Amino acid sequence: MRIWFTADLHHGVTVDGRDLTAPLAQWCLERARPGDVLVLGGDVACGDARGFEDALRAFERFPGPRAVVAGNHDLWSSPGEGLGSDRLHETLLPEVAKESGFVWLEHEPLRVAGAADAGGGWAIAGGFGGFDFSLADPLLADLDPEERGRVREGWRTGRFAPFFWNDYRYSWRSDGSPWEHAAVCRAQIERLAAHLEALERDPAVEHVVVVTHTAAHLEQAIGHPDGRDAPACRNAWFLGLSGSRALGETISRFSKTRLSLVGHTHHERSYRSPDGRGWYNVGCDYDRKRWLIVETGGGVHTSPWIR
Ligand SMILES: [Fe+2]
Ligand SMILES: [Fe+2]
Repeated sequence: MRIWFTADLHHGVTVDGRDLTAPLAQWCLERARPGDVLVLGGDVACGDARGFEDALRAFERFPGPRAVVAGNHDLWSSPGEGLGSDRLHETLLPEVAKESGFVWLEHEPLRVAGAADAGGGWAIAGGFGGFDFSLADPLLADLDPEERGRVREGWRTGRFAPFFWNDYRYSWRSDGSPWEHAAVCRAQIERLAAHLEALERDPAVEHVVVVTHTAAHLEQAIGHPDGRDAPACRNAWFLGLSGSRALGETISRFSKTRLSLVGHTHHERSYRSPDGRGWYNVGCDYDRKRWLIVETGGGVHTSPWIR
């Protein structure tokens, strides 16, 4: 059995007018075997529930169970439109997923009965994840107090000149109140922990793969898109918006969690922590997509880039 993972399809957002969803899906559909599992790790489309549905439809012929989580771009809404990020997240997108034959992982993990090569039952758990600025903690410690204050203010406003983080403009609640990123992330971690606890107690499950949109480990993130050589305060600001250290600490508390698969930062990363867990970022960007393929018999490999 294999687990096919990708993220950041951003269906409907094209570079040079090229649709990459169809060739990405085709690459997988030509190779997937009955009983394989498909997981989409968020940013399926961009503030467009219709596009979200169209992207899921591209995987209709996948010959096994399918699951999906939301990304920050999937939750974009505009104030005053009545359909806030909270309703998209809790109601509309889960309904679209269900109607399209996908498990909405935030509501229930996907359990996969043990395949002959899989060494016991597998489960996929996960959700959006979100960000709470904690990934930047190790970098903040190296900044002088004034820089640290500027970075923290940048997380409050979403602005760190010359950059602006669009989630601060497009994430709203249906009642018009702002979206508190750190509070959303805390709630996400609590929900994931409840699922992981249930899987830990389930004797039919031996291995758990955790899929979140945002990074759960510093090694899954990149910081400033120019890399770690960018000024430390810029790196810290970007890292804070990339995921959550608390998310990774929660994953690491459970003995059955083997792998964490994420997207969001659009840069590929892979890391094996001393406890043996694998932390991967598939790295899809607007102009290039690919698959992470987990062989449950052992090993993780990638497809070529699809451009
Ligand atoms: Fe993305
Ligand atoms: Fe994202």
